This record gives sequence, C-alpha cells and structure tokens, in this order.
Amino acid sequence: MPVAYLNGQWTRPEDTKISVFDRGFMFGDGVYEVMPVYKGHIFTLAQHIARLQRSMAEVRIQCSMTAQEWQALLEEAVSRSNEQDALIYLQVTRGIASERSHVYPVVAPTILVTVTASQFDEDAFKPISVTCKADFRWSRGDIKVVSLIANGMLKNEAMDEGFDDAILIRNGMVTEGTSSNVFAVKDSVLWTPPKSEYLLHGITRDQVIQMARGSGLEVREENIQEAFLKQADEVWLTASGLELLPVGKVDGKTVGNGEAGLIWHRIKSVFQAEILKVIEKID
Ligand code: PDD
Repeated sequence: MPVAYLNGQWTRPEDTKISVFDRGFMFGDGVYEVMPVYKGHIFTLAQHIARLQRSMAEVRIQCSMTAQEWQALLEEAVSRSNEQDALIYLQVTRGIASERSHVYPVVAPTILVTVTASQFDEDAFKPISVTCKADFRWSRGDIKVVSLIANGMLKNEAMDEGFDDAILIRNGMVTEGTSSNVFAVKDSVLWTPPKSEYLLHGITRDQVIQMARGSGLEVREENIQEAFLKQADEVWLTASGLELLPVGKVDGKTVGNGEAGLIWHRIKSVFQAEILKVIEKID
C-alpha cells in the first residue's frame, strides 16, 4: 500500500498536505532522491543517502539527520508500505517561510518520503526511440534539485515530435537523458560522458561502470560527440527504477539492429545477479 511520511507524520500519499509557503512549492527550493526497492530491500541505499547529503550541502539546506537516521526512516517507510518491489521518493525542501523572499530563511527543512509500487511490465526493456536536443538546462545538473521544469520541457517536446525521450547535447557533446544517464557501445568498448557539473552523477551509472569493468569490458568515461552516438553499436539509458534501457533509434537512425544488443544483455544479467546478491546478503 502506498505510504507517505511528512515531517514526522505517516499518512496515505493522497492525504498528505504541503503548505503553500513551502519553499519547495514556491521556489523549487529542494533536493530529492529516487531509490529502487527489490524484494523489500533498498538497493544502493548508502550511495543515495550520500548524494542527498551532498545535494543539501551544495544548496545549503541544513538538516540534522545522520546517515543512520535516514536509513532507519527509509527502511521504516518500506516496511510500513509492505511493498516488495517499489520506488522510494525522498524530498527535502528548505522548509516553510511565510514571507516570500529570495533570501534563505532560517527554518526547519520539510522532509517528505513516499513509497509506491514499481510497475515493471514486459515492455519495460523494449528499445525506445530518442531524439537529440540542445541541453539548455542550468549548469549544475550534478545537484539533484526538485526544479525539473527544463527536463520536463525537453522530454515533452521530444514526445510531441513522436519520440519517447531526448538525449541532451551541450557544445556538441552528450550530457545525459532527461531523467537518465547515457551509455554507448562502439567496437565492444563502453563509453559514457565523464562526471561534470552538467550531469547527474547517477548511481545506476556508477553501478553499470563497475559491473562492466568487473566483467572484463573496457569502459571509457570520456566525452561522446553527437555524431559518435549516431554511429554507436548500442545506446542505453540508465536510472534508478529504469535499470538499463536500450535505445533502438536515435533521430530515426536504427542503433545496431534496433534490438537490445549483446553487451546490453551481458550487463543486464550481471545487474540482475547483483540485485539477487544484495537481497540474499541482507536476508
Ligand atoms: N532520475 N540524470 C537525470 C537528469 C536524472 O533525473 C536521473 C534519475 C539520472 C540517473 O540517476 P540514478 O541512476 O542515480 O537514478 C540521471 C530519477 C530516477 C527521477 O528523477 O525520477
């Protein structure tokens, strides 16, 4: 059953109310995380907590919660929801200030957690079709902020043009997807853009790199030109909840044979094995 936590209160998500003066609502002044839950266990929990704490430090949201307290709260949320395969949404905003001002108020942060069942169906890993779009977002994509208006604009523009999503290009180079990181395979080498301030340092990205290297694949964290992307043998998007999603077409050009490639299959099965290992280790 979906569950929500707001500043100490447990409720149903649809009954949870946020103040109109919440800075997350008025200014998009907040940060967030999305975490996958497999068989009741939170995957890569420590990494998500560490990234949340970094995002909060970058935007100077003060919160006294320790990593252990975050872990306890999130585990309680999963156990109260009783969901086995789910997504946790965790949002921390600067808090409530009745005077609308660009100056940061000294107030307690708002902490919101929801747990909802994940909906994986047989289409979840069907190759998608993407278009390349100019990345006009701000240049601090490494902070996971709740203001996602630009990401939404880019995704919806792509969809209006008949694509499933967009891959974003800044100065001729791939940055990331609208809500994912990007990988390309060329001649059995796996490429992904290096970490920078222009893209989110995805936790799934780190996992995929580690798994690929562990399985003997050469991985290059180097810039990917738009033209290179269109010549790639395989293209994938990665994100929590999405895992590795194959891309079958880029701007109408078929990638490989349009199906999920050999290396995708290899890393996908390592990913599944890793999830099983995590579950078994905890149980
Ligand atoms: N988004 N880049 C962007 C812009 C993202 O929004 C996301 C994830 C990622 C992948 O990060 P990770 O592997 O840590 O989930 C990259 C989440 C899932 C969302 O906004 O729903």
